[in-house]
Amino acid sequence: MIKRYKYGAVIQTDAVVLELDETVGAVAFLGQYDETAQEFRYRLDAEDLVYGLGENVRGINKRGWLYESRCLDDPHHLETSNSLYASHNFFMISGTETFGVFMDYPGIVSFDVGYTNRNELVIHPEDSNFDLYIIEGKNTTDIVMQFRSLIGRSYIPPKWAFGYQQSRWGYMTAEDVREVVSQHRENHIPLDSVYMDIDYMERYKDFTVDEERFPDFKAFVEEMKAEHIHLVPIIDAGVKVEAGYPVYEEGVEHGYFCKNADGTDFVAGVWPGRVHFPDVLNPDARKWFGHGYKFLLDQGIDGFWNDMNEPSLFYSEEHFNEVLDSIGEFKGKNLDLEAFSTFTSMVDGLANNRDDYKRFYHKINGEMVRHDRVHNLFGYNMTRAAGEAFEEFEPDKRILMFSRSSYTGMHRYGGIWMGDNMSWWGHILMNYKMLPSLNMMGLLYSGCDVGGFSGNTTEDLVMRWIEAAIFTPLMRNHSSMGTRDQEVYRFEQLDTFKKLIECRYALVPYIYSEFMKAALTDTMYFQPMSFIYTEDEQAKEVEDQLMVGESIMSAPIYTQNATGRYVYLPEEMLLIRMRSCDDYDTEIMEAGHHYVKAGTDEMIFFLRKNHIFPIGSKAESIAELDDSKVKLITFQDQDVTYDLYDDDGYSTDYDLERDITTVKISKNGTCTVTGSRNLEVTVEMY
Ligand code: GLC
Repeated sequence: MIKRYKYGAVIQTDAVVLELDETVGAVAFLGQYDETAQEFRYRLDAEDLVYGLGENVRGINKRGWLYESRCLDDPHHLETSNSLYASHNFFMISGTETFGVFMDYPGIVSFDVGYTNRNELVIHPEDSNFDLYIIEGKNTTDIVMQFRSLIGRSYIPPKWAFGYQQSRWGYMTAEDVREVVSQHRENHIPLDSVYMDIDYMERYKDFTVDEERFPDFKAFVEEMKAEHIHLVPIIDAGVKVEAGYPVYEEGVEHGYFCKNADGTDFVAGVWPGRVHFPDVLNPDARKWFGHGYKFLLDQGIDGFWNDMNEPSLFYSEEHFNEVLDSIGEFKGKNLDLEAFSTFTSMVDGLANNRDDYKRFYHKINGEMVRHDRVHNLFGYNMTRAAGEAFEEFEPDKRILMFSRSSYTGMHRYGGIWMGDNMSWWGHILMNYKMLPSLNMMGLLYSGCDVGGFSGNTTEDLVMRWIEAAIFTPLMRNHSSMGTRDQEVYRFEQLDTFKKLIECRYALVPYIYSEFMKAALTDTMYFQPMSFIYTEDEQAKEVEDQLMVGESIMSAPIYTQNATGRYVYLPEEMLLIRMRSCDDYDTEIMEAGHHYVKAGTDEMIFFLRKNHIFPIGSKAESIAELDDSKVKLITFQDQDVTYDLYDDDGYSTDYDLERDITTVKISKNGTCTVTGSRNLEVTVEMY
C-alpha cells in the first residue's frame, strides 16, 4: 500500500507515473514533519536495517552514515564522501517496522541514517516543498516492487550492450579505435563496443565529429558494424559558446539555455571552456537538445553515454572573475596558515561550488526557477531528452543509453554507470555494494568502470575486476587519459583474460533472461542476500555477496594477492569455479562458512539448491552467440523449472509470455522444454 503526502508547492519532477490521492494527517511511521527544523525524525531500533539511497558510498545497509542527495562530480570520492554523481531519495527500514520512504524532492536533501545518533534517522530537505510516499508491504522485496510500479518500467538496452565493452579517454582517432578492435579480434577476445570519449568531437562540441580525426564517420560506423562493433559516443551537458556553432546559435536564438537572474545566458566552464547549459527542465529546450542526438543516429550510431550532467562546473564565469579580483590581494603577502587556507580554498572552491547553483535559472511552466531548488533533476532530464528523441526517431529500436547523473525517473530512459572510480581494490567492493541499491531504484542497466578509471591499474586488479563484473549488465573497461593502459591485450596473461571474457558470453543467456524478467516485472536483478534469506540473521550482515537473478549467488574476490575468500552459504549450494566456459569444476558445499580457493584466473559463484543455471557457449560478439542451445546446470533433489527469456534483442516489442521457454527437469533427470522457441538443451545434473 502506498500513501502520498504533499507538502508546500511541489515542483513536478515526473519521477512518479501513478497518480495517487493525497493522504492528510500525520505521516505513517514517520509522524509529524517539523516545519521549523525542516525534518522528519524516526527512532531506529537496535536491529533495524536501512536499505536504498541508490548510488552512494558505504554499505548495502546504509546505517551509520550521513548521506546527501546532491548530484556531484567528485572524481576522488572516498568512504567519507556524502554524495556521488546521482541522487535517489528512496530507502527502506527493515526491522521492528518495515516500510519504504520516497521523498520526491528535486533539491538537496540529507539523510542522517544513525550518524549523529545511532538510533535516529533524520530526513532534512532544503525547503518544505515535496511529495512524500510511504510504502507498506510484506517485506523489502514487496516494497521494492510497489515502489517500482510507482515510478514506471525500467529502461531496456539492446542485447549487444550485454557484451564486453572497451573504453578509454584517449582514443583520439579512428585509427586508435581500429587498433583496439583489431587487437581484440586478432586475439579472439570477445568485444561488442568501443566508446568514443570527448576527443571525437570538434573541440568538445556536442553533436559534432572531428572530421580530421574521424574522416567519413558514417562509413567508419559501418566498417565497425561489419566487425560487430558498436561505437558509443559521449555527450556532455555543456554546449560550447562559439559564434557560428549551430547548436550554440540555435540555443541562444530560442532562449533554450539556463539563464542568469537578469535573463542573460549563464556561463560556466567545462571541457570546451565557456559553455551554456541546455535548460533540459524546459520541455521545449529538452526536445530541441534531444533532437541533437539525431546527428549521430543518422550516421548509424545506436548507443550513447551522457556525462558531466550533475551538471559539473569547473567554474562559473561570474565566480571565476570574483576570485581573480580578490586573488591579487595575496601578492607579496606572508601567507600564514589562515591566509594560505583562504587562498587555496578560493581556488579549490571554483569547481562545483554550491553557491553557483544559486546563480542560474530554469524555465519551468513559464516561471524562472533557481537551479539549487531543482539541482538533482538535470542529469535525469538530459537523459530524458535523449530518450524522448529516441522514441520519436527510432520507436521500434532499442538504443543504448546510460548516464552519469540521475534522479528517480531517469531509470525509464537509461541506465547508469557509477562515475569516476579509482584503480583501487577497495573500489571493486564499493561499486559492488551499489548494485542492489541501484536496482531498488529501477536502475537495472548499471555497472562501473572495470579496472578503475583514475590511477594506474595492475594486471591482477583488472582480472579480479572482470571476474567481479561478470554478472553486471554493463561490463565496460574504462580508464582515464594519463593512466596505465588497461585494455586486456596490454597484459601478459592475455589468454586468461580471453577465457574469462568468453565466460561472460556463455553467461549471457542467464544474465539477459534474468535482466529482462527483472525489468518486465519490476523486480531486482541484484539483491542483498537478506532479501531472499529473510529469516537468516547472518545473511543480513553479508555485504560482499549478492544474489543474481533467481539461481546464482555471486562472491567476488576483491583483495590483492588473495588465493581465495571466505563465503557464507545460508543453505547448501553448488560451487562453480570457472576458468573458461568449458573448464570449470563444481563442488556441493553445505550451509555455513567456508574458505573457497580461487586463483586469479578463476572466478567463483554458487548455484542455489533446486535451481537451474542455463549457460551458452563462447562467442566473439553478441551477434555471434548461438542462442539455439543451452546447457542446464542443475543442483536438485526435487522437480525444478526455469523460465528462460530471450528475444530478438533489438526491437521494443517485449512479451514475457511469448518470449519465455520453460524448462522442467524432473527429480530423475528427464527434461521437458515448452515454449515457442526451438531450444536444444543438455542437462548437467548435481
Ligand atoms: C568524466 C567521465 C569519464 C570520462 C571523462 C572525459 O570524468 O566520468 O568517464 O572519461 O569525463 O570525458
